Amino acid sequence: MDASDPQEALRRTVELLAGARNALALTGAGISVESGIPDFRGRGGLWERFDPQEYATIEAFRRDPPKVWRMLAELEEVVLGARPNPAHRALVELQEKEIVRWILTQNIDGLHQAAGSRNVIEYHGNGRTLVCLDCSHRVEHAQRGHQIPPPCPSCGAILKPDVILFGELIPQRALQQGREAVDTADLVLVIGTRAEVWPFAELPRIASSRGIPVVEINLERTGLSDSVADITLCGAAGELLPRLVSRLDSGGLRLGVSDFLE
Ligand code: APR
Repeated sequence: MDASDPQEALRRTVELLAGARNALALTGAGISVESGIPDFRGRGGLWERFDPQEYATIEAFRRDPPKVWRMLAELEEVVLGARPNPAHRALVELQEKEIVRWILTQNIDGLHQAAGSRNVIEYHGNGRTLVCLDCSHRVEHAQRGHQIPPPCPSCGAILKPDVILFGELIPQRALQQGREAVDTADLVLVIGTRAEVWPFAELPRIASSRGIPVVEINLERTGLSDSVADITLCGAAGELLPRLVSRLDSGGLRLGVSDFLE
């Protein structure tokens, strides 16, 4: 599907949404940029100041937890005050319309849930809880006190947020739910991610190889744009997603996806 004309790309996306019942939204840092959380690899992003090899691997945390906490403390600070933006809310509306079923996010900010989304799969963990790697004790964020790095109340070792560092496994339940979501998806939206980090990055590629339409929404073209995405909508998610919802509301059409593809 070539939709190089932005208006035509938008129209085709509305048609695909109108025909979908089990769409899967795959989201990344870009969807939360309009909530004031910089993405990772863009200008001002966390990886500009902290080399992920040095600050974001599980080996680095085990070797020198206070050093990794310098990065984690910054991440916590920007995430804590953030509120959902129109992109998160538009996805809630698409779920209420029974178009989007699952949201699989790489983000740890909890903003999809804060906006009111259900069926949220957190692929890279969450910032709500912390875990002790020594004794496995878990603590809610609100209970962890103000000390940085925070000590485990049970054994005194340093706690790690329940976010997945490089070299750690994706939580088993999220992996399973992700597989189920891809297996049942009739449309995949890839929003605000470069889709470069594996195994997340394989999800849109698997969908595309199965003939499931893939629509990408991003400020820029990415590695998915030429070979994986059927449609790339270039723009801010907080502007494009609400626009898609209002077009759906005004159009009121519901085509079958197969009708559209024929
Ligand atoms: N609307 C849409 N897209 C946006 C917006 C916006 N308002 N702002 C930024 N983007 C896009 C950027 O153009 C970029 O392509 O979002 C993408 C963000 O890419 P990354 O910073 O690489 O973030 P992400 O793909 O989510 O990173 C994946 O990498 O380091 C890890 O664990 C971390 O979960 C993260 C993973």
